Amino acid sequence: MATAAAQQTARTQPGTGRDGTVGTTDADDAFARAFDAAVAADERIEPRDWMPDAYRATLVRQIAQHAHSEIIGMQPEANWITRAPSLRRKAILMAKVQDEAGHGLYLYSAAETLGTGRDELLDKLHSGRQKYSSIFNYPTLTWADVGAIGWLVDGAAITNQVPLCRCSYGPYARAMVRICKEESFHQRQGYELLLALSKGTPEQHAMAQDAVDRWWWPSLMMFGPPDDESAHSAQSMAWKIKRHSNDELRQRFVDICVPQAESLGLTLPDPDLRWNEERGQHDFGAIDWTEFREVLKGNGPCNEQRITQRRRAHDEGAWVREAAAAHAAKHSRPGAGAPAAPAPTTASADTTGTTGAPQA
Ligand code: 3HC
Repeated sequence: MATAAAQQTARTQPGTGRDGTVGTTDADDAFARAFDAAVAADERIEPRDWMPDAYRATLVRQIAQHAHSEIIGMQPEANWITRAPSLRRKAILMAKVQDEAGHGLYLYSAAETLGTGRDELLDKLHSGRQKYSSIFNYPTLTWADVGAIGWLVDGAAITNQVPLCRCSYGPYARAMVRICKEESFHQRQGYELLLALSKGTPEQHAMAQDAVDRWWWPSLMMFGPPDDESAHSAQSMAWKIKRHSNDELRQRFVDICVPQAESLGLTLPDPDLRWNEERGQHDFGAIDWTEFREVLKGNGPCNEQRITQRRRAHDEGAWVREAAAAHAAKHSRPGAGAPAAPAPTTASADTTGTTGAPQA
């Protein structure tokens, strides 16, 4: 039986193009067999391994969408940093928004290991050729929305992303480990914030309930279209990029949230939500997929605002990127002494679209 190292060598191909193309059909077959065997054996595919072009393209699509979601997702919450009700809440919220920027960086780096540059990905985001999560096209109208985002949006993200720690592509899986730990903190801060409001004055309780009413259904949409309409799920699951289908994860999320809502003293806005003894899961009401499709088409409440803000932040950060690149070039000249500083990543060098006047 081949050792793990020998198997790794069999699918690693120094000298081949970034699209994984190799010279002969026999060689192609051997690499493809090694790839299939590695996936079947739950081994990790690494950047220098041969991989099918479609596997690479799917990963770039999903990781880019994920990275874009992290940095666009900074906007709705950053909107409340200046208006957080106490220093403690402000410090927590600032740390959370900074974490999201960090998640964007890990994920853009993971996408870069597949041979796609960050500038190209950001260009696709800014021109609408790549998506970000539908959830960030909804407004944050009150302070309670910060709690609802933490509890529901970050909760949905964790449910979706914990299985991605076992994704077949090594750099993505490893990035997800740290991201999930931080998302757990985010989810708890949201829960704790909502609990404080729920147990507060009647007005505070009503504000928490109103936020949950508005964020519940969009949170269920985060998991993507129903399985029978999901274009990519079957292939992504066969490649072990995704480990569960959209509907499986959505169901898991509903089952987790019901007892948490009870502990919070809040009601989930779904009259059809009830325990199904036979299935051992909760039944829940119909999701408005027309709304989901409209948001994806750019017609959600905040699509225009989010992307305008992101483009503006990118443009305003251009001088920082240029200065840092000039600094790195200067120090990489022979005899320059100091080690070259890495060129800044676009996401860290700009203002991430979170500065400026409060918006929705
Ligand atoms: N928002 C926007 N687009 C969505 C979507 C959503 N909620 N759900 C699905 N889509 C898009 C897909 O990207 C795909 O479009 P494309 O072909 O142009 O890429 C199309 O709808 C069909 O959906 P599929 O189910 O076939 O797509 P996937 O197999 O990729 O599954 C997914 C969708 C479950 C979102 C999957 O991509 C995934 O698990 N992604 C990684 C996690 C992620 O992106 N999370 C973002 C959430 S927010 C976040 O993490 C920030 C945190 O701070 C809260």
